[in-house]
Amino acid sequence: MAESTYYVTTPIYYVNDKPHIGHAYTTILADVLASYHRLLGTPTFFLTGTDEHGQKVQQAADKNGITAQEQCDQTVVRFQELWRRLEITNDDFIRTTEERHKKIVQEVLQDLFDRDEIYRAEYEGWYCVGCERFFTEKDLAAGNCPECGKKVDAIQEANYFFRMGNYQEWLIEYIETHPEFIQPAFRANETLGFLKTKKLQDLCISRPKSRLKWGIELPFDSEFVTYVWFDALLNYLTAIGYKTDDEMFAKWWPVNHHLIGKDILTTHTVYWPTMLKAMGVEMPKTIFAHGWWLTGRTKMSKSLGNVVNPMEMCERYGVDAFRYFLIAEMTLGQDASFTEQAFVKRYNSDLANDLGNLASRVLAMVERYCDGKIPAPAAGADGTDEALKSATQSAVREMDGCIRTMKLDSGLARIMRAVREVNVYLQERAPWSAAKRGEMESVHTTLYNAMECLRICGALLYPVMPERMATLRHALGMEEVVPQLDKLSEFGVLTPGTPIIPLEGPLFPRVELKKEEEKPVTEKKEKLAPPEGVITYDEVMNVKLRTAKVIEAEKVEGADKLLKLQVEVGEEKRQLIAGIAQHYGAEEVIGKIIIIVANLKPAKIRGVESQGMLLCASVGDQLKLITVDGELPSSGAAVK
Ligand code: ME8
Ligand code: MG
Repeated sequence: MAESTYYVTTPIYYVNDKPHIGHAYTTILADVLASYHRLLGTPTFFLTGTDEHGQKVQQAADKNGITAQEQCDQTVVRFQELWRRLEITNDDFIRTTEERHKKIVQEVLQDLFDRDEIYRAEYEGWYCVGCERFFTEKDLAAGNCPECGKKVDAIQEANYFFRMGNYQEWLIEYIETHPEFIQPAFRANETLGFLKTKKLQDLCISRPKSRLKWGIELPFDSEFVTYVWFDALLNYLTAIGYKTDDEMFAKWWPVNHHLIGKDILTTHTVYWPTMLKAMGVEMPKTIFAHGWWLTGRTKMSKSLGNVVNPMEMCERYGVDAFRYFLIAEMTLGQDASFTEQAFVKRYNSDLANDLGNLASRVLAMVERYCDGKIPAPAAGADGTDEALKSATQSAVREMDGCIRTMKLDSGLARIMRAVREVNVYLQERAPWSAAKRGEMESVHTTLYNAMECLRICGALLYPVMPERMATLRHALGMEEVVPQLDKLSEFGVLTPGTPIIPLEGPLFPRVELKKEEEKPVTEKKEKLAPPEGVITYDEVMNVKLRTAKVIEAEKVEGADKLLKLQVEVGEEKRQLIAGIAQHYGAEEVIGKIIIIVANLKPAKIRGVESQGMLLCASVGDQLKLITVDGELPSSGAAVK
């Protein structure tokens, strides 16, 4: 690898609840990347931690009847225990309630305030409690939070603001000229799309203590605490000596990879770069957003009760198999669906069958035909041997490329292909038959080559499955169970005559899916999801589109975008609230035949009931109702 040092981070997780598979995933991913770099000889720093301030944590504490600090102290151990169980090798673990973090956050705030990057102003607008975010009237989606869809509160209060809006042009230019900055590229486009179509507002970075006490106090106004994101993002700096240890800071910053889920793209690609810019700190090299783990088709989330418990998966199938599955199954950037069926299938085919069986067979034959010692290969190898060697060597090269391009799933697939090639080689060379014929030289060469391939594939898989691969290397008679990945291009490293150490059992015993009566790991299971962004025929058919005739229309009081429509859908009368008042006057729509989604769950918009949604076509700030071409005998016709 080209980098001279490698610094990788995970998001710091909220301590409002215990970790689930989503948190486990990002942390395992960071661990795998950190481990690859370490084993390639690159000095590496891997940071994870917990985000302990803010409303979410306070609310969880209130619910549990404990103090916020108790909530943090009790939950942080759940994360730390899980990381130990998952063999996570982080170099530091930062908690935002630690003095080392709070002190620097306050220094940063004071500096920005002194330089007028932060100012005080009266704020009037909308606030979403769940998302802890402010919105303007325009941002709202049908009067609700554009992020989570829940109700927003109207608030008016003094607050402190960071002049984020000043950096809009700069940020657009920076993203456009640094293609590696936000990855995958389609996420950069997402951020750009937003930056180019909306005016970037200044960021409210304070919360009055009257509303929330649990946060870092503003150094210049003790009536306020810091907005949790402004505090949290700084962890990436405070953990590596920013403003306290210049040498350490210079060694690791700029970070190579901020790994995040796509849920926190905006905070990391808009707030964070502009904060750094105002602070005069270099930009991160890459912010990499992966997709979501879904249960069936919905995001795994605690409120939906469909989370997979990582501890339980490790109990059932082993830590390494769990790590392997997560890395092999998710194409970085896209969503992936977690089902225990898919897990068991992949486990049995890749691990129990292809890799585990190969190791067991080879080691058993070395016991049997070579007196339990690594055999010596014959001098001149034949064509099969050369093909095998080059297949393994190309897996080494391709894996290296896959790490560089963050295609870990392809990398693992490539290694597994190499493993299967060794199985084919064994089948072709049939050392058991050669032994019967007394052709011991051929037996020794075959087994030596197979062992070498196991050594190399085992090394490549080590960052993903450290415990099992160390066991494999030990069995192969290697003293050094931790591999050096920059030394894998050589073939013929194992020393003939060295005793092997029989495995105590299969590396990956075959498993069967637990029976229905046993507690499932996930609480709900659904069919495998189609690729992201694609829906099935059945899903289309689930949406009931109907024609409707507008009978009455009037403006909704106090909302300049909304029209209240009374429509006729066949015999039925319905009321719809539509955000079209800036495009159509009330009189204009009366009598029109429109198309509505008839089976949408009714909702209250600005306190007024809406029973369905009408369809419009819109480009830029233009909007047109979708109507029917020609006459039909009545409204309420199905739209197909
Ligand atoms: O957002 N699939 O913390 P958080 C994949 N404290 N990854 C998932 C996931 C899923 N279903 N669910 C969660 C916060 N994650 C802030 C971060 S950073 C300065 C502050 C992972 O506890 C993924 O990495 O909500 C996601 O971005 C993160 O957990 C959110 O964790
Ligand atoms: Mg979250």
